[in-house]
Amino acid sequence: MEFKITSGSPEQLESQCLVIGVGDGGVLGAIAQILDEAANGYISGVLESGDITGKKTETLLLRAIPGVAAKRTLLIGLGKAEDRNDNNYLKIVQAALSVIKNIQCSDATFCLDLEATNDRDCYWQTRKLVETVSAGLYRFDSLKSTEPTALKLQSVSICLDEEDDETGSLAVVEGAAIANGMSLTRDLGNLPGNICTPTYMAEQARKLAEENPAFSLEVLEESDMKALGMESLLSVSAGSEEPAKLIVLKYQGTDENEQPHVLVGKGITFDSGGISLKPGAGMDEMKFDMCGAASVLGTMAAIAEMDLELNVTAVIAAAENMPSGKATKPGDIVTTMSGQTVEILNTDAEGRLVLCDALTYAERFEPSSVVDIATLTGACILALGHKASGLLSNNDELAAELLEAGQYANDRAWQLPLWDDYQEQLDSNFADMANIGGRPAGTITAACFLSRYTKKYRWAHVDIAGTAWNSSGKEKGATGRCVPLLTQYLIDRTA
Ligand code: BES
Ligand code: MN
Ligand code: ZN
Repeated sequence: MEFKITSGSPEQLESQCLVIGVGDGGVLGAIAQILDEAANGYISGVLESGDITGKKTETLLLRAIPGVAAKRTLLIGLGKAEDRNDNNYLKIVQAALSVIKNIQCSDATFCLDLEATNDRDCYWQTRKLVETVSAGLYRFDSLKSTEPTALKLQSVSICLDEEDDETGSLAVVEGAAIANGMSLTRDLGNLPGNICTPTYMAEQARKLAEENPAFSLEVLEESDMKALGMESLLSVSAGSEEPAKLIVLKYQGTDENEQPHVLVGKGITFDSGGISLKPGAGMDEMKFDMCGAASVLGTMAAIAEMDLELNVTAVIAAAENMPSGKATKPGDIVTTMSGQTVEILNTDAEGRLVLCDALTYAERFEPSSVVDIATLTGACILALGHKASGLLSNNDELAAELLEAGQYANDRAWQLPLWDDYQEQLDSNFADMANIGGRPAGTITAACFLSRYTKKYRWAHVDIAGTAWNSSGKEKGATGRCVPLLTQYLIDRTA
């Protein structure tokens, strides 16, 4: 999809479909008024007829309005002036898009005139329009044997005041970069475990690295990890035919001496639970257990596309968790790269086992911050549902930066406490710690486990178990979260 900024008098815009807002009670916005005048009161006539009242997301498609150059005009309800917030804005864009998708038009022009939300500036509204339209057009049909019907829509224009042209153009570039990052993340998430293996993830990282000289890639094999003492990570792949990979993708966007921000992703390409086997129902969804890793790769793609002036290093712990005669057993004890020992009481708590070694590995980069992203705990879904990702950190300033980024990018996280009081739930009689902390506060005890490997730097953990994919119906599939949050966090670090 091509996105463009345009300006000019709305009645003269050549477009297959002009999108114009109407306020609650049939109030014409500035643009609608101009059109109405050009059309000799045609639009106010339509409003008087009551065919559209301007309630939020209501739509009415008009054809060939006299005096208006565009072939069609889509009126979209903006709702009450006082209710127009971020969420309404996104709903309005989605509602307009669902009409546009169903008609035969090859281009559309949004003329919302910054009236659809009171809370955000031109940059935000333009960027979010690009992200929302792109996300709404996303399809995953590469594994269907029937030829997918081609999408007619080729280009979307956003009409802004001339003075906003530069801001709008930047927003289009950054919005498209985030959208492309999200669709990479969704593609990787949606691919099944028999295709998206740890080896496949490493190949995808290689593809990214080959496309942009700011990237450099190193992939550690199981033998390399063994030499580094990563027994914990290797205990997860022990039962699988698929070798684990530790994927290290560096992006250099500024002076090489500047300390990098490190993103660590959980990349379990299938989580059967291992010997602590999961129940069969819904087990297919554990192909999504690499969505943390996928969102790290999506973020790397996004920042590279926008040439962000920052150094960022991605560390992806990719492995498959399977039962077999060689698999790790409950009660087994391993020594992590840090030297600390772990009693593996449940092989289904494998995310923390791969992450702890990846987090220790991250020390060598002398990072300015480390953020790990993981579909780590079912408990996070119980705590926060599917709306907010869980956030835990050993540094309140870093936590605040991430919360703020999520708020701005409309990809929100919510902080949970990482108090010492919870650490004792990990006590083990036989090793330095157990890998599970019992039923209460499962998300917090998982983060407590990780916190024992992140003492040397500013660190935060984002649990995306509830937000990384939708579980049911036509919506089933990866969401691309938390690419917007992570990318925003990094954009903010360059300011
Ligand atoms: N990948 C799962 C967490 C998960 C479950 C994410 C369902 C999304 C939906 C993780 O590896 C896991 O199995 N966690 C266990 C931990 C438990 C054994 C302490 C869980 O949450 O049940
Ligand atoms: Mn598991
Ligand atoms: Zn898992």
